[in-house]
This record gives sequence, structure tokens and C-alpha cells, in this order.
Amino acid sequence: MMKSNATVSKNIIFSLSLIFSSICFNSQAAEIQGNPEAGASKVRLCIGCHAIPGYRSSVPEIYTVPMIGGQSSGYIVSSLQAYKKGERKHPTMRSVAGSLTDQDMADIAEYYAAQIASSSPNKLK
Ligand code: HEC
Repeated sequence: MMKSNATVSKNIIFSLSLIFSSICFNSQAAEIQGNPEAGASKVRLCIGCHAIPGYRSSVPEIYTVPMIGGQSSGYIVSSLQAYKKGERKHPTMRSVAGSLTDQDMADIAEYYAAQIASSSPNKLK
């Protein structure tokens, strides 16, 4: 009797762990992918401050803002997350990053990562 109860609970635990690991697997599979085209429509807020190639020459003052065009997308996302969490303190960037979802950050990061010196001119510059 004891033995069969133990077997039943082992089976339950085994089933639960299968369910749990499939949930984990699914959330990994759904890891956020950035889309540069979607990003292009989300950077209006950023272009007033951040220089991207071709943009900085017309507005020299923005040299004081770090250039993010051509940065790696991973670096851009982790910087934005750091502002959002308060690990990086710049007040404007904190409120800007605070308004972005994880998907926004991924899209924007892919967009900026593609803005290298040799990339074709884009309408938002
Ligand atoms: C009002 C001006 C302003 C706006 C608008 C703005 N930024 Fe910034 N951003 C800055 C400044 C200034 C810094 C440097 C802050 C610091 O020293 O931490 C910065 C830093 C960053 C950094 C870190 C760069 C590095 O080299 O570490 C990233 C990434 C970034 N901004 C992305 C964005 C994105 C994406 C947007 C639009 C959604 C945006 N910013 C909008 C002014 C701005």
C-alpha cells in the first residue's frame, strides 16, 4: 500500500516536472527577437538626441550624446535595461528607457545596430 502510494506520487512529480520543463523550454523559445523595421518606427523619440551617421553633421550639438548607430544590439538592449532598472542614472535616459517594453528595446537595438557608416541613407535621418 505504502509502496503504491509512493509510486503514484513519484509519477505525479515526474509529470509535473515534465510540464514545468516544457514551460521553461517554451519561454526560452519565445525569447524576444528584435525587428529593425519595427524599430525604425520607434526611434522618433531618440533621433533628436542621438547621432546616427549622416545626422550628426547637420546638428553639431548632439556630439555630446553618445553615438549608438552601429553599436551591437546586445549592448544597446543591456544599456536600456540598466537605465530602466536604475543601474545607470542619467535622468532623461531613465525616463526614456522606462517607457520602452522589452520588445521595443529589441526592435530599436536591431535598428541602430544596422546603422553603420556604409548603410544606405534612411528616411529618419
Ligand atoms: C533628451 C536626449 C535623449 C533622448 C531623447 C534619448 N537619449 Fe539616449 N542618451 C542620452 C544621453 C545624454 C546619454 C548618455 C547618458 C549617460 O551618460 O549615461 C544617452 C545614452 C544612451 C545609451 C547608452 C549609450 C552608451 O554608449 O552607453 C543608449 C543605448 C541610448 N541612450 C539609447 C536611446 C534610445 C533608444 C532612445 C530613444 C528611445 C534615446 N536614447 C533617447 C540622451 C538622450
